[in-house]
Amino acid sequence: MTQSHIGLSKAVIPAAGLGTRFLPATKATPKEMLPVVDKPAIQYVVEEAVGAGLSDVLMITGRNKRPLEDHFDRNYELEEALSRKGDTERLGRVQESSDLATMHYVRQGDPRGLGHAVLCAAPHVGDEPFAVLLGDDLIDPRDPLLSRMVDIREREGGSVVALMEVDPAQVHLYGCAAVETTADSDVVRVTGLVEKPDPADAPSNYAVIGRYVLDPAVFGILRETPPGRGGEIQLTDALQRLAADESVGGPVHGVVFKGRRYDTGDRADYLRAIVRLACEREDLGPEFRTWLRRYVTEEMQSL
Ligand code: UTP
Repeated sequence: MTQSHIGLSKAVIPAAGLGTRFLPATKATPKEMLPVVDKPAIQYVVEEAVGAGLSDVLMITGRNKRPLEDHFDRNYELEEALSRKGDTERLGRVQESSDLATMHYVRQGDPRGLGHAVLCAAPHVGDEPFAVLLGDDLIDPRDPLLSRMVDIREREGGSVVALMEVDPAQVHLYGCAAVETTADSDVVRVTGLVEKPDPADAPSNYAVIGRYVLDPAVFGILRETPPGRGGEIQLTDALQRLAADESVGGPVHGVVFKGRRYDTGDRADYLRAIVRLACEREDLGPEFRTWLRRYVTEEMQSL
């Protein structure tokens, strides 16, 4: 079911990264196009935005990213061939992605970091709050996160990030938030942010995951943000400025997510996403589960 939110209608999906963790698969194919069961990972992300009422989607793309545009466009040849065969089921699946949302694209040119990718959205977004969904972060469709974040933005103003508690040893892989509790058990006030800290310097084990609802004030800050960690313009650095001075663009809150999330840009997590989502599919699940049970039993016996 889709929801509508006053003042928030635009989603930005940065998908211009190089995807080096998935080479050689991503040499000529964007990592966002890798299939999770039978849909490219990016389609789940667009469906999530639409499900939260954001049907105006701007994708930030780069070189080699043409397949992303083609996937959300019509494919008349294929549609005609399936129509001729009377294969309405597959025809529906082909049309689903092109009917999903109003898609826009902008190219980032050089991938100078996530902050730079978000800045490329400024002319399209204008002076409105907007959501950012990272193209390789897959939130299980049954665990709504973005809608809750949009609600918090509407109630509190400012910006909202998604947080997840991680093993302290993993915190160096993420942006990490210093937080204060609020009256809502799933909402915290973010007082500071640091990108990929050493575990000893980490302010908490709350990791920032790939969903944001941002106040447009972030664009002004990003324009002034120098390259940070890894020589890239970091979105986390701009959010740190917002968190440190509420007068710039309102407060920064965090929604603590306890649901299922997969980083489909990471090979092991990608495999976990496929197994889990395949198990839960009505059409494939029963047979796949039976096979998986047998496989696991055999593996256990050989230990
Ligand atoms: P990642 O940190 O996953 O980088 O980017 P990456 O290049 O995509 O992948 P690896 O680490 O080399 O395998 C996080 C998100 O930010 C986007 C990516 O597409 C991804 O969705 N991004 C990153 C950009 O759009 N532009 C950039 O310059 C950097």
